[in-house]
Amino acid sequence: MKIIRTSRAMTSWSERLRRDGVIIGFVPTMGALHDGHRALIRAARLRCDALVVSIFVNPTQFGPREDLTRYPRPIAKDRALCREEGVDVCFEPTAEVMYPEGFQTVVTVPEIARRWEGEARPHHFPGVATVVTKLFGMVRPHLALFGQKDYQQAALVRQLVKDLNLGVAIEVRPTVREADGLAMSSRNVYLNAEERMIAPWLSRALQAGKQAIEEGLKDGKAIERSMLKAIEQAPAIHVEYLALCDPDSLEPLTRVVHRAVILGAILIGSIRLIDNLLVTVPGKMRRARG
Ligand code: PAF
Repeated sequence: MKIIRTSRAMTSWSERLRRDGVIIGFVPTMGALHDGHRALIRAARLRCDALVVSIFVNPTQFGPREDLTRYPRPIAKDRALCREEGVDVCFEPTAEVMYPEGFQTVVTVPEIARRWEGEARPHHFPGVATVVTKLFGMVRPHLALFGQKDYQQAALVRQLVKDLNLGVAIEVRPTVREADGLAMSSRNVYLNAEERMIAPWLSRALQAGKQAIEEGLKDGKAIERSMLKAIEQAPAIHVEYLALCDPDSLEPLTRVVHRAVILGAILIGSIRLIDNLLVTVPGKMRRARG
């Protein structure tokens, strides 16, 4: 596996392969790789001839009071996972390579980024949109894979690729979960034993919402209440939002008609966890198929 640190070396590697008709897959990450990343890498491996994983803890997507300095950086372990999975290039740019002196441009996707994570973390999505645009420019992939765990991020990336004609196919892969339902995330390492026990309540609340829809509940507020009721039993959780939304626009739904995404964010102490579930109204699904 090759380790590349500069933009120029990354782009010339990709351009050479593209000229030979090689299909390049890309999994952008901030490192601290877990089985969710492994699943993305494996899916990319199956679809592409050559595979790049980037590891860059992007400072511009962290707010001033967020966890940039303590964000986990187990680089040797991350490289070992990439090697094990047959990654061809680990792209590890430094902050100076990404944001050299004089850097000015910021990419924003105002509508998709307006609510939920965008409201709670105003710095986050402009940072993500900018770094993803830059990474695509440096890596020049044909296909990039993202996890559904960061649902709003994936929607934002799809929108920016479309709006800016970036020519990269985007695939969003299902969330990988621990046995008790907790969505895998690099930030789960922050949870102490007690917090780790409480954390799966977020996915349980989302499941309660999904079940309510599958049992025929359609009213958005009633579905949200069923989720709040489920999570009420959990100790020491502050719910930021549990929201029923349109899966494309991410606008809140007053009524579920066909498909919905349930988005959730909670705080356990100072640790913020997000998760989501896609739901299809069962009857509609059968009619659509028939
Ligand atoms: O999902 C992540 O790990 C990051 O937000 C990404 C897409 C690598 C951009 O820094």
